[in-house]
Formats: sequence, C-alpha cells, structure tokens
Amino acid sequence: MKKIRFGILGAGAVAYENTGLFNQNPNVELVSVTSRTKEHAEKFAKKFEMTSYYTDYNTMFEKEDIDAVVICTPNYLHAEMAIAAAEARKHVFCEKPLTTNLEDANKIIAAVNKAKIIFMYAAHQRFWTAYQILKEIIDKEVLGEISFVRARFSHKGPYTSWRASSKDRWFFDKVKAGGGVLLDLGIHHIDTLIWLFGDISELTGASMGTFCKEMTWEDVASVVFKFKSGIICELETSWCDLPSNIIEVHGFNGIISLQALNYKSEPKIEFFPKKLKRNELVQSLKPDMFMENVKKKMTDHFVECILENKEPVANAIDGKKALEVVISAYKLC
Ligand SMILES: NC(=O)c1ccc[n+]([C@@H]2O[C@H](COP(=O)([O-])OP(=O)(O)OC[C@H]3O[C@@H](n4cnc5c(N)ncnc54)[C@H](OP(=O)(O)O)[C@@H]3O)[C@@H](O)[C@H]2O)c1
Repeated sequence: MKKIRFGILGAGAVAYENTGLFNQNPNVELVSVTSRTKEHAEKFAKKFEMTSYYTDYNTMFEKEDIDAVVICTPNYLHAEMAIAAAEARKHVFCEKPLTTNLEDANKIIAAVNKAKIIFMYAAHQRFWTAYQILKEIIDKEVLGEISFVRARFSHKGPYTSWRASSKDRWFFDKVKAGGGVLLDLGIHHIDTLIWLFGDISELTGASMGTFCKEMTWEDVASVVFKFKSGIICELETSWCDLPSNIIEVHGFNGIISLQALNYKSEPKIEFFPKKLKRNELVQSLKPDMFMENVKKKMTDHFVECILENKEPVANAIDGKKALEVVISAYKLC
C-alpha cells in the first residue's frame, strides 16, 4: 500500500511529540518540515530522516509531493496554514485551538468543505477510554437525568508544565496566542464536554484573572454555561495551580467523578451511591485508563480517516464550537 506522505508545520515541542507518534504508524512516510528558524527545521528533518526542510510552507506545498500536513505552530498561524493546505489539497491535522477568532474558523470550514479534504481537530481527550466509557454511561442514562457537571483542567502553564520551545514565548503574546488559559487548557475540556453532553446553548457567566504569569490574558478562569439539554456546567481552568483534570457528573441517580489529576500520578474514579458499582459500565472504569497514550490513538485515527476516507471524530466544526464558548467568555469579561 502507498504510504501517506506527511509534511509538518512547526518544529517545536508539539511538533516533536506528534511527529514521533505519526512516525510509529506504518502507513506514514515523513517527508518534509517547515519552521520559522532554518536551523530548527534542519535539526527536525534530520531527527525524523526527512528528505527536505523549509522556512516557508507555501514553498513546501509547491515543491513537495505530500498528502497531509500537521499544524503545530502558534495559534495565530493555524488559520492561514490550514486554508493554504486545503487549497493545495492536503489533508490537515490541526492542533488546538482551531484558530483565534470565529471569522477565521468560518474560513477554515469553508476551505475544508470546498477542497473535500480530511480535516482533524486535535481533540485528544475524546480518545481516553475512561471518557469514552463515561460517554456511554451518560448516553445510557445510568446516572438518571443529569442536572449538573463540574469540570476542571489545570497545570503550571507553558514554559513550566509545558516546555514550549520557540524563543519568543508566544503563549504570553496577546496576538500570537489569541487568549490565555481558557483558550489553551479550557478549550480541551469544552470540546470534551460538548462531545459528552451535546451542544451548548448559552454562556451565563465568566470570571477571569491574571495571577502568576506576566501577560495580558487570563491565567485563571471560571465559566458557567448551559447545554441545549438544560444541563448546567461549571468549568475552572488555571495555569497557576497543580495539575488536575476532573469531570464530575451529577445525575438524579448518582454522581460520578473522574480525576486524572496528573498524567503521571495515580488517577481516581469515584462514584456515589455504592450500588452504581452494579452497573457493568461503571465497573469497567479503571484508573489506569488515564495512563494510556491517547495522542497515539488520535494520530492513528487521522491516518485511518485518510485511508478510509471517513470523517474524523473531531473536525473543524467541533474546533469552532469550542472556540465559540471561549470567545463568548472573553466578550463577557
Ligand atoms: N494538544 C496538546 O496537548 C497541546 C499541548 C501544547 C500545545 N499545543 C498546541 O500546539 C501548537 C504549538 O505549540 P508548541 O508548544 O509546540 O509551541 P513551540 O514549542 O513554541 O513551537 C512553535 C513552533 O512554531 C514555529 N513558528 C513560530 N512562528 C512561526 C512562523 N511565523 N512560521 C513558521 N513557524 C513558526 C516555531 O518556529 P521556530 O522555533 O523554528 O522559530 C516553532 O517551531 C499550539 O497551537 C499549541 O496550542 C497542543
């Protein structure tokens, strides 16, 4: 079978992580990389035994025979790169957030539809087995009618918990990042929550502050919103606290809480009342499910979607839905 030929956009921390995972897929051939700094592109190409490297992605699109690109650049570049890739008929795997504003999100969706390419939004939490079982628990109404959800996602932030590598520390740049912790971490959980509970109808509250980082955007945020089903949700996110990744669901028949705390330490699964344990799905939830390599599952899924010409579990529309909530919160504060 002909391998899918990949070009990577960006040669920073996430580019290394994603490319390492794509490299493990037998149907992938890594061909080329583009980064702003020539030496970074060159080093990256050498590491992954690529045949070429560039500092301009349009040149890469013109010169190289590639089928798919992986966008791992600062947020403000996602839209122009995704649109250019779609116009050049390349399939796109795009890091979160989809982009930094809704106008660009619409342009990406239009370009993807026009080119009929496969576009995957990097929503890796959807690949966690524990969250997939939680989705089944919710869909099968094991907890009865659900009224309330509490969610939290935090770590110490970029350049501390997350070793972003480019020198300009773009995560703290108002334009290049396009937002603070809500756009960076909160958006992961917003996507997961929409996938679990359906579309959001209204954002009813938002509160944000800057506590620990030298930046104009928020490093701590809390938002309250309602799903179309009426379920109320409270989401907290922070770049100033210890790592936590929590989703707690309150139903008329019981409560279930998944706490992945830290990817490296022991996660916790709690529920109440005890009789919930009689349910097979609840029984099947195991804390070590949070230790699996979900990003490997996500990158393999993108390859499978290209090979089978099928829609990824998260696409550009999903990226836009999560972004809409963040933008609404910024408007409110
Ligand atoms: N899914 C996740 O869990 C996760 C986690 C963290 C980050 N992310 C996302 O991944 C993306 C990349 O983040 P990162 O942490 O990898 O950042 P990073 O380490 O700072 O890397 C950014 C890369 O983009 C390149 N770049 C910057 N400006 C450029 C330009 N004008 N043209 C071409 N390349 C340019 C940099 O180039 P040079 O260094 O060569 O100058 C660098 O290679 C972001 O969108 C971020 O939100 C996702």
